[in-house]
Amino acid sequence: MDRFFSNENVNIDALEKKAFNYRWAVHPKGIIPLTAADPDFPVAPPIKESIKKYIEDGYFSYGPAEGLYEFKQAISNWYKRQHLADCNPEFILPVNSAAYALFVVMKTILKEGEQAIIPNPVDFLFRKSIEYAKGSAIPCEVNMDTAEYDFIELEQKINSKTKAIMLCNPNNPLGKSYTLEQINKLKSFAKKHDLWLIADEIWADIYYDKKVISVLNSSSIPYEKTVVISGLSKNFGLAGLRIGYIISPNNTFYRKVLENSLHQSTAFGLSPLAQAAGISALSECDDWLNGFRKHLGKMKTLSQNFVKNSGFLHPVESDSTYLMFPKIRQEINSEELVKNILDISNVALVPGGNNWFESKSEGYLRICYASSEAILSEAFERINSKKEFFI
Ligand SMILES: Cc1ncc(COP(=O)(O)O)c(C=O)c1O
Repeated sequence: MDRFFSNENVNIDALEKKAFNYRWAVHPKGIIPLTAADPDFPVAPPIKESIKKYIEDGYFSYGPAEGLYEFKQAISNWYKRQHLADCNPEFILPVNSAAYALFVVMKTILKEGEQAIIPNPVDFLFRKSIEYAKGSAIPCEVNMDTAEYDFIELEQKINSKTKAIMLCNPNNPLGKSYTLEQINKLKSFAKKHDLWLIADEIWADIYYDKKVISVLNSSSIPYEKTVVISGLSKNFGLAGLRIGYIISPNNTFYRKVLENSLHQSTAFGLSPLAQAAGISALSECDDWLNGFRKHLGKMKTLSQNFVKNSGFLHPVESDSTYLMFPKIRQEINSEELVKNILDISNVALVPGGNNWFESKSEGYLRICYASSEAILSEAFERINSKKEFFI
């Protein structure tokens, strides 16, 4: 399995043509991008085979608006097997990316002027999806060590316009997941205030010592107004196939998200080719994913050691994702430091700050370590060898 995650298996020529979104294809040759969370490794072999098999007969006809039943079933089985959750496949809607899933769900829940609480920090998609629905995103600070909401602040932010609390489980950028007690506490809070609990679990399969606990885990307290959003960009590196899904709690909500997705108008929908790849990922690639997690565990240690010994970043712990979000020791704007590192060391990172992860992320930077040991070591060496120029 190790060969899948070796340096020899990273095809930089292909990445320079295909990896956009702040990665290899958008930087001049020679820059190492530890930016957007997208692995540097090719996908698991069964996924490639499933795509070849799908194209064999030469038909690329319309797929069903509700998604291929086999894919819905594969997602339901995945949640059962990996996350100990019972999800009715009839209520799962495959959509074109987790990002789009967020937009559709927020459109379904919010009317103009209504509010949803989001963690601060969190990925910018949370705010964008709420604002797309003409709602207001209300950031509520989370503990930077545990990603847990402050329930006193949370209580103060609730008013008659509040319709939902959002959770990023695990949190991007913090790389923190939640205990069963923390999930139950949040579910009880949402229940008490009759709010939707929307959990983005796109990172839930990338964990280290302990499994991430889903908000749908059958040992957590049941709460009907819980919706899960996820996708296959992070666990199986399929970002370019744009595979996402929405797990609805019941048929009424499912019908509403289906309507808001515009799938029935044929204007949108998840390509059947992507769904064929998704079926393979969720049913034939457990060993590959285990190998990926094992490799990432080593890259996490490598990255943590870099951060600890850097002299300009505070040491940081994480239990999930392939992201590291250290605090910068000096008084310097995150964007400025990241720009200096790019200019001086030829390594691209993601800055903290309002444009990316809400206000509390200012003074931090994000490193994505889903790469080979050789690439990461080279990137860290480049930064270390020139650090006197930016600290
Ligand atoms: C928390 C979170 N949600 C959603 C997404 C977007 O995923 P997709 O590629 O499926 O749109 C990301 C991507 O980084 C993410 O971190």
